[in-house]
Amino acid sequence: MTDPSALHDAVVTPGTVDLGGVARVFTDVFEADGTVVFVVDPDRRQLEVGASQPPGGVDERDLRIPLGYGVTGLVAMNGRPVTLVDDTPRNRAHQRLLGLVPGGTVCRLCVPARGIGSAIVGVIAIHRHRRVAFTDADAHRAQRFADLVGLRLHAESLLEAAEEHRSQRDHLIAHATSAQEAERRRIAGDLHDGVTQALASLAFHLSAADVGLSALADTEPSAAEAKLQIQSARRLAGLAYDETRVAISGLHSLLLDDLGLVAALESLTKNVPQLHIELRGDPAAGIELPDHCAAVLYRIAQEAINNSVKHAEAQHAVLSIRRVGDAVVLRVSDDGIGFDVEKARADARSATSEEHYGLSSIAERCALIGATLRIDSAEGRGTAVTVELPVRPA
Ligand SMILES: Nc1ncnc2c1ncn2[C@@H]1O[C@H](COP(=O)(O)OP(=O)(O)O)[C@@H](O)[C@H]1O
Ligand SMILES: [Mg+2]
Repeated sequence: MTDPSALHDAVVTPGTVDLGGVARVFTDVFEADGTVVFVVDPDRRQLEVGASQPPGGVDERDLRIPLGYGVTGLVAMNGRPVTLVDDTPRNRAHQRLLGLVPGGTVCRLCVPARGIGSAIVGVIAIHRHRRVAFTDADAHRAQRFADLVGLRLHAESLLEAAEEHRSQRDHLIAHATSAQEAERRRIAGDLHDGVTQALASLAFHLSAADVGLSALADTEPSAAEAKLQIQSARRLAGLAYDETRVAISGLHSLLLDDLGLVAALESLTKNVPQLHIELRGDPAAGIELPDHCAAVLYRIAQEAINNSVKHAEAQHAVLSIRRVGDAVVLRVSDDGIGFDVEKARADARSATSEEHYGLSSIAERCALIGATLRIDSAEGRGTAVTVELPVRPA
């Protein structure tokens, strides 16, 4: 007779549970001729064979028992152990799996394998060819072992479901972020091809009109007045052109598409004449990041730099991106006036300040890609925004 602690070794395996080992242990412990470990399928419609002892080859794959059908199916449905003497299952594949010759019978003990909250996740069916019935004490003992198997099977299926869920979620986020970037790219393209072109030709026509009026304006007061109007219209067209260009570059970074995250971050630091921003980049830092993560990190850097420019009154700022172990770390720091982070968060939560959504958008973006965010700031002591994104080892 096998030491029941062998069951522990079969159940507590790294990776997935060793059902073949489980079938062997039940067979040995109960001095039986074999054991079939049935598992409830993910749709909870039928039992499938997880493993059998002795191994049943093709019959294992062929045998499927609907829940509620036959003795085994009933045990899977109502969760009560059953002992049988002189039994012959109806299903041919089942008969072969039990090693039955035509007209032969077996003694059987079927116990449910119960998981968390007593959910039935399988049935363990032990059989003997000798006509030695299983006792109530056997049933009791088998049930305790079966529940260990059930807990392990249940934990495994929950883990699988959680992983499936996580990968669906990652997929959705990647999709949503790419869709958002595509939309920004489209708007930037429309602005560039439509509005900036129209403004450029407007400015051209206005300067032609200005030149045309020059001769008349010397003698005609109304023409001189019109010339002044045309000049201010030209200035406005120039202003609108510049503003549109700024809006376009804020909307979408062509560099991010073409040359990647570090190049795009570099251009962010150069596009701010008001503040000297030093880039400390590790060119390989973002190399194997999925596109949507690179886009999200870029947006975070953009927002943090905006804040340093707008609020910090800083002399100097540093934007860095580095690889630290299995993480990409993005950091924007400035030597400015700093602020009370808790208070800013509370203000952002209060209904009255709808306009301060920069910090909360940074936090939301971090949550989206599974990055952690730290904001270190104190009044008079500058600000550092640090984002750490774990990446899977290559
Ligand atoms: N780098 C910084 N230096 C100083 N103050 C900052 C900095 N970043 C954020 N703040 C403070 O936090 C507030 C909230 O920032 P944010 O959520 O981006 O909204 P907004 O920039 O629209 O005001 C800012 O109004 C500012 O007072
Ligand atoms: Mg802001």
